[in-house]
Amino acid sequence: RQQDRRAYDAAGSEARVEARVADGREGRFDNAPDSDPDLPGNRVWGREISERMVASTLGSELVASSRITDAKTLDETIARGVAAADAWQALGADERARILYRAGEKLEERRAELLEVMGSECGKTLDQGDPEVSEAIDFANYYAMLGQQLDLVDGAQYRAQKLIAVIPPWNFPVAIPAGGTLAALAAGSSVIIKPATNSARSGAVMIEALWEAGVPKDVLQFVQFGDRELGSKLVADPRVDRLILTGAYETAVAFRELRQDLPILAETSGKNAIIVTPNADLDLAAKDVAQSAFGHAGQKCSAASLVILVGSVATSKRFRGQLLDAVRSLKVGTPENLETQMGTIITAPSGKLLRGLTQLGAGETWAITPEPVASASPLSVDRNGENKLWSPGVREGVKRGSEYHLTEYFGPILGVMTAKTLDEAIDMVNEIDYGLTSGLHSLDRDDLELWLRRIQAGNLYVNRGITGAIVRRQSFGGWKKSAIGAGTKAGGPNYLHGLGSWIDAPVES
Ligand code: SER
Repeated sequence: RQQDRRAYDAAGSEARVEARVADGREGRFDNAPDSDPDLPGNRVWGREISERMVASTLGSELVASSRITDAKTLDETIARGVAAADAWQALGADERARILYRAGEKLEERRAELLEVMGSECGKTLDQGDPEVSEAIDFANYYAMLGQQLDLVDGAQYRAQKLIAVIPPWNFPVAIPAGGTLAALAAGSSVIIKPATNSARSGAVMIEALWEAGVPKDVLQFVQFGDRELGSKLVADPRVDRLILTGAYETAVAFRELRQDLPILAETSGKNAIIVTPNADLDLAAKDVAQSAFGHAGQKCSAASLVILVGSVATSKRFRGQLLDAVRSLKVGTPENLETQMGTIITAPSGKLLRGLTQLGAGETWAITPEPVASASPLSVDRNGENKLWSPGVREGVKRGSEYHLTEYFGPILGVMTAKTLDEAIDMVNEIDYGLTSGLHSLDRDDLELWLRRIQAGNLYVNRGITGAIVRRQSFGGWKKSAIGAGTKAGGPNYLHGLGSWIDAPVES
């Protein structure tokens, strides 16, 4: 986190180091066998956490007690949140910021617990979870600061909304729920957060840290639902002023249809590609593609699902060999094993993901076939006792317009496409419905300018992996079907603006 902060104001090379830290590649749990034992937060600490991961029940009590099973309790919860908003707003931005800065400190104090519970319920390896906790802390500090700057912008007065619902996904079970919640709190609103069922315990530990920091329990309420209907009831309730959602595009559309007057800030699905041109540093490209595709087993909305090889790269034996070696060398396992580089899928694959892992389209072949991996670890099976540990897959020969080209799978699969020119590669990216992250590997300025002019995605990365956006440095949000709402980006300067209303400040005549 200290590094994150310093990097805000630094330039160039420090930013690159920072980017790697945030992506978990050089975090404190660099678990390469020769890693420096003197690194802060060394392996001993890591081992203690990993031992607890297997048996962890952190957050369970809060999850059980926050379960809402009927419409009356939901109604009371909403009423409590609305009633608490006035006092929260009356505290003033500075006092709220003081509490949120303290929330950042509490999250830091609970870093070990957060890593434990994320590993336990989501299969997060320590090298992925550690920068995620840092990201949550960055959100606390950054949004606290933005909240203090909101009062008057361009002559308009900011008026906070009373109640904001936050519905995060399971895949970043701490950083994404924390981001939405902290933004809404900094803006002066009460929050009802409903974390994803698969990662509710991680959300619970994060919320406990915020309460401990001084956020009143009525201002920040944590709920779980017994059924889908109550979730819809929450969103449909006119007392809910805003919805912050991260999830599938279809979910966001369903919520929008439920209540068309509800402003939604949603980051939705993605199908992200990295283009590699003949002007690239191919060694770097191979590493970045493998890490972007298989970090957290490909279950990041930002993950690379496609690599598009341009011109001579398409036939480069050296690049192909390096990429496949990089993928084969990934240590696949469960998160309590400190050597693990690629962890489990959230639940045993089914439906679309299972098809993606087992079926090929016309003309496609497996360069590396994904397979279930046998493991004795209790963290290798889902709640139904089914195996959720798979090895990574690389499919070659993906055709333009094919199902694989255009579909989001959200798992450990990388598809390889080829293009004659950079223009053609950009067309291939732009004909995908989504536009979340996109990458270019090239050291040529003309390539870069062409790509920047034409590519359609919210987050662009050059000569680096395409995951691990850093709060304030790379505000995060999508384009096309990767976003719904006004397109304000998380971790960016305008995010709080969309959470309130702007009214003209009275002018003296
Ligand atoms: N913010 C995450 C990333 O950049 C994705 O949600 O990888």
